[in-house]
Amino acid sequence: MQFKNDQDFARGLDEQDPLRRYRSAFAFPIRNGQPVVYLAGNSLGLMPLKAQQYVTQELRSWAELGVDGHFHGRHPWYYYHHFGREALARLVGARPDEVVAMGSLTANLHLLLVSFYRPTRERYKILMENSAFPSDQHAIASHVRCHGLDAQEAVVELRPRPGELTLHTEDIVEHIRRQGDALATILLGGVNYLTGQFFDLPTITREGHAAGATVGFDLAHAAGNVPLHLHDWDVDFACWCSYKYLNSGPGGVAGIFVHERHGRNAGLPRFAGWWGHDEQTRFRMEKSFIPQPGAAGWQLSNAPVLPMAAHRAALELFDEAGMQRLREKSERLTAFLEFLVDEYNTAFPDQALELITPRQAAQRGCQLSFRTGSYGRRLFEALGREGIVCDWRPLDGDPDAGVIRMAPVPLYNSFEDVWRAAAALQRVAAHQQADFGTTA
Ligand SMILES: Cc1ncc(COP(=O)(O)O)c(C=O)c1O
Repeated sequence: MQFKNDQDFARGLDEQDPLRRYRSAFAFPIRNGQPVVYLAGNSLGLMPLKAQQYVTQELRSWAELGVDGHFHGRHPWYYYHHFGREALARLVGARPDEVVAMGSLTANLHLLLVSFYRPTRERYKILMENSAFPSDQHAIASHVRCHGLDAQEAVVELRPRPGELTLHTEDIVEHIRRQGDALATILLGGVNYLTGQFFDLPTITREGHAAGATVGFDLAHAAGNVPLHLHDWDVDFACWCSYKYLNSGPGGVAGIFVHERHGRNAGLPRFAGWWGHDEQTRFRMEKSFIPQPGAAGWQLSNAPVLPMAAHRAALELFDEAGMQRLREKSERLTAFLEFLVDEYNTAFPDQALELITPRQAAQRGCQLSFRTGSYGRRLFEALGREGIVCDWRPLDGDPDAGVIRMAPVPLYNSFEDVWRAAAALQRVAAHQQADFGTTA
């Protein structure tokens, strides 16, 4: 599509957008008396208005029913993880019993590694990105140590080619093949948190299986962002959080996927808790553990109903809008941002935002990440004062140089939002240039 750097052009795209009504289903923070341009859905998604209603409903059940809410509320708490499960399954391309909303992301990652990283003397290595989110690095290193292994030897890190920041699929494949029989597990982010690169998950899974490894993904930046087909891709396990693209609130309930061929294997080692026990006999309070079939068998504790109510509200919106339509809009929104920033870079080469996210739609989701020189922090802070909400990650040790991440999301962002962000960027850069003469 041929884009134009023009507000009316952006408004025209919004008028043709079949998803535009969802914008009014969300609460936008107000800054300078105006709703902000919110491009931080990669960090914390906005609140669906329905979330307030659904949480209030559960608070009312609690107030009116007390303990009886477990079985007699409108949505009995005992079964709460069943509600929204089908929508969650559709969202990640799974069968309903392959997913469950539970716990928190890092804790779930630990639980899954207990089951799926089972090193032996010969096969003990785990492959990950060198720029994986720190929590994943801590989790993996701690598992390796718990198995009595040396992390330096057992953790194999994928590094970009010299001078690059993203990975080539052929390099990942080459690494997998090189580790061969020594490779126990692959754990990658589905979409890298810093660069926004969306990996080729089916190829990685296929290659991992060919090497005899289990393959799992941290989908914190992928769930609700890019289309996923975890069952068909034959992924072994995956986990995600719900507070980013899934708009389910800060620290909201997370989720896991366990492929049905593992979910049916009651003998698979796991760290167990009573909520993973067979639902029919749980209250017999017996010693023996009978895991529920499917991902539900990895649950530990009774469901955190209040955050799960917010999650339910958000999942309903996703289900209604449909991941396919969301993806179509997302590709256009992000391409529009890319076009406008390219134009900005031509006008302001001294304050350029260097795109480090791949330019191919298939290799990215909503987010674009831009590397800056030491003018970056000032630009980012000035954007914030203009009501443009994005985020900043330092890079390479210089506190004023780093990465600005912007993620227009298709559920609540408009093409006009993207245009406004780029117009603000031009304004603040022009201002800085006038103030400092040179900005490099
Ligand atoms: C890729 C990734 N993994 C793990 C985490 C840690 O999440 P949590 O604090 O919910 O465990 C995050 C948080 O942003 C993340 O982006």
